This record gives sequence, C-alpha cells and structure tokens, in this order.
Amino acid sequence: MRVCVIGTGYVGLVTGACLAHIGHHVICVDNNEEKVKLMKAGQSPIFEPGLSEIMTGAMQAGTLEFTTDIGGGVAHGEILFIAVGTPPLPTGESDTRYVEAVARSIGAHLDGGYKVIVNKSTVPIGSGDWVRMIVLDGIVERQKVLVGAGGGEVTTLESVPAFDVVSNPEFLREGCAVYDTFNPDRIVLGGSSSKAIAMMQELYAPIIERQYAEDKSLPPVPVLATDISSAEMIKYAANAFLATKISFINEVANICDRVGADVTQVAKGIGLDSRIGNKFLQAGIGWGGSCFPKDVSALIHTADDYGYDTHLLKAAVSVNQRQRLIAVEKLQQVLKILKGKTVGLLGLTFKPDTDDMRDAPALNLIEHLNRLGAKVKAYDPIVAQSGMRHGLTGVLVETDPERLADGCDALVLVTDWQQFRNLDYNKMASLMTNPVMIDGRNYLDREALQQAGFYYVGVGR
Ligand code: NAI
Repeated sequence: MRVCVIGTGYVGLVTGACLAHIGHHVICVDNNEEKVKLMKAGQSPIFEPGLSEIMTGAMQAGTLEFTTDIGGGVAHGEILFIAVGTPPLPTGESDTRYVEAVARSIGAHLDGGYKVIVNKSTVPIGSGDWVRMIVLDGIVERQKVLVGAGGGEVTTLESVPAFDVVSNPEFLREGCAVYDTFNPDRIVLGGSSSKAIAMMQELYAPIIERQYAEDKSLPPVPVLATDISSAEMIKYAANAFLATKISFINEVANICDRVGADVTQVAKGIGLDSRIGNKFLQAGIGWGGSCFPKDVSALIHTADDYGYDTHLLKAAVSVNQRQRLIAVEKLQQVLKILKGKTVGLLGLTFKPDTDDMRDAPALNLIEHLNRLGAKVKAYDPIVAQSGMRHGLTGVLVETDPERLADGCDALVLVTDWQQFRNLDYNKMASLMTNPVMIDGRNYLDREALQQAGFYYVGVGR
C-alpha cells in the first residue's frame, strides 16, 4: 500500500521504517530539514535498537523515502499517518498545534482518490472529529486560493475529496520500539468507516498474522475496532494505569523502608498473583519520559474540563513528584550536608536503550542537588556517545564510569542500563572519596557492591 507518515520522531520514524520493511511504499515527511537530510543519508536521528538496519534495508529496497514536501507525501499516500509531537502545555493539557498544522496542510493538499487519515499521535479525546474539521478547513482554504487566482471552482460538499479519520494509538516502548511494532499486544482502530478500518487491517495484515513476530506460532494479534473516542481514551487509560501501578509500588517501597521489609520480595510476592502481574512493579526513583507524565496530566486536564476531579490520578502524580527526589533524601541520610559534596549519576535517560531525555527524573535530581550546593557529575552511555551533554546544565558529563567515580562522595544509579551491572565496582570504590551507592532502581547486586566496599542503599529494601 502507499503510505505517508508525517512527523518522523520516535513514533513516526519507527512506524514508517517498519511498514516499509514489510513491503509498503512509505514516504516519511518532516519539517525539520536537518533531520530529513540525515535520514536521506541513511542515518537515524534517534537511538533505537535495530532501527538503522531496518531503515537501510528498506531504503535500499526502494520502499522508504524521506522528504520535507508534505504535498508530495499526501499525493503519494492512500493512508496518511499524523505522528507529530503533542507535548504538554504548562497547564498540563496537550499542545495540539502541530497536529492542527499537519491536518490543515493535509486538507490543503488533498486531491484525487479516497484517503485514510490516521491519528497516530496521542491526542485529546475528541480529536478525531476535530482533525476532520481542520482537514475540511484546509480544503476550503485551498479552494478559496484557487478561486481567487481564477483557477478553480467554489467548493461544494460534493466536490470535497473523500477521506476518513481513524484513531490508531501507538503503544510502542522507546528502547524496544522496533520489536514492539512487530510484536504488538493489540492493535486499536477507532473510527466509524468500515472502508477505512478494512484498509488499516490490510495495512497491518503481515503484523497481525505474525509474519514478522519473534514467535510466529502465536495466534493473530488481537485487533480492537472501537469508536474514535474510545480508541483515544484507551491510549490515555493504558498509560495512566501503568504510571499508577509504578506509583503504587513506590508508595509500598516507602512503607517498606520504614517497617524494614524488602520491596523487591514484596513485588515478587504480589506479582505472582495473576490478577496483578509482575510487570511495572519495580520500585525506584519514579516514572518519567515523553509519555507518562504528559499523558497522565492530559487525562487529568480532560476530566477537569468535564468537572470531574480525578483523585487517583492526581495522587499517582504527587507520589511520583516526591519519589523523584527520594535519592536526595537518601543521600542526606548518609552524607548529611550535601553542600560541597560531589554526587555522580549513573545514567541520565529516563530508561535504558533510549537517548530520550524528555522529562527524565535525572533532570529534577540535577536541579535539586545543585540547589543544595552539591557538585553533580554524570555518565550515561548514550549521552556520552551522542554528544547530547551540550544541552544539559548543572552537570559535568564524564566519558566513562571510572572518571565519574573519581572524587565522588556518592553515586546514584538513575538509569538501569544493562552495562551498569558489570562495571569494575572495586576500582570505582577505590577512586571515590566515600564509596556510597544509592541504587535508584534496585538494579545492582547488593552483596557484590558491599563486597567491593560500597555502602549500599536501595529503594524500599
Ligand atoms: P517527536 O517529538 O520525537 O517527533 C515529532 C516529529 O514531528 C519531529 O521530528 C518534528 O520535527 C515533526 N513535526 C512537527 N511538526 C511537523 C509538521 N508540521 N510537519 C512535519 N513534521 C513535523 O515525537 P514522538 O515521541 O515520536 O511522539 C509523537 C506522538 O506519538 C506524540 O503524540 C506522542 O505522545 C505519541 N507517542 C509517543 C511514544 C514514544 O515513546 N515517544 C509512544 C506512543 C505514543
């Protein structure tokens, strides 16, 4: 099928590259010229395991192209994905201006045959109808220009190009986005047009039938066809549930700390209950990233708009805000005064295997430690590699873990990068002024660290 993906960030680029890999002809559009130049040269502007290989393969096969020309992309695609960012506004609501700009632009370029416009971006509930309206506005504006120039006729309802809007929320996880695209738990399609839903099913057929799955013997991927608002709500509800689950175990961890229980054992004990499940029960320094914080805030904001005060979601957010500074509390318990002390952060990104720093707990930690007069250093494998350190303030980014440890009064494990399990902790302890390890993810081997000479502090254990 002919596909156009507009907005090639974490979601758009992965979606475009994976659809091209399974044989569709995909044109990816972005208005960031630098990004497009990079992608045209076969380079991925984001770090995502397996993505570069898929991109290169599809480009060589001629099924994946990149452009800044949205008109060309819209003309090419029978399915048009909107995958631009929807960042949070200071009020907590979602900033939909990029979606609006793209929808208007699609309208201005719609011509010819029937198209399906897909909302892949996470958009406030009700956006499906709103996007439809903006596309229609775009069509009318273009017709006015054409009429003004004497080149066309006034738009009538009959002359409007045929299109439908479908909500197809994305559930991929950064760090395993390619894997998740080929091995989804479910595909949600929201919309009222059976023609559009059928085209989406045809698009995803190779994925639904598990042709690209790790385990090809699994039954087909469940496809849930819903109304458009329910599809939009499913995305918010899923993220709000997961964020709340983490806040729950963090609250339990804080109680464990006080009563002398070990939250890792408690999580195992409750996670074996199939009604609870063992995922998202790792206590630590809180959730972050580009999705959970903004999606939970947006849902709270939407509920507020309807006069509904969300007690549970607000509590999940407030537990998380406190949890993000739990490492500071633990540092103060061990080192007492932090002014003049040097703290080294192991990891900066909000989770491993991504270069995404949006709303990472490390940023709060750096800011708070700076405010208390501590000197902050950090080492993160991807940040050191990609040179993103230039965008960070209040922290000295080191190029390897031993340089990080050198002269530190304490280390804080912020991100559970796998390589942090196998560092030379004996050597690192010997380089530190005070070998203290705050394991913010309960990720390290406590006994091994203690044997290496560290004073080990976990979260809730
Ligand atoms: P991103 O910020 O990485 O990428 C957005 C891209 O859109 C950028 O490359 C930007 O240059 C481009 N763009 C903005 N305006 C444009 C325009 N007018 N024309 C063409 N391109 C334009 O965003 P990300 O993280 O990929 O998220 C996209 C959407 O997907 C958001 O709504 C997000 O909530 C949602 N989502 C994100 C997930 C993630 O893990 N990052 C997971 C699931 C959903």
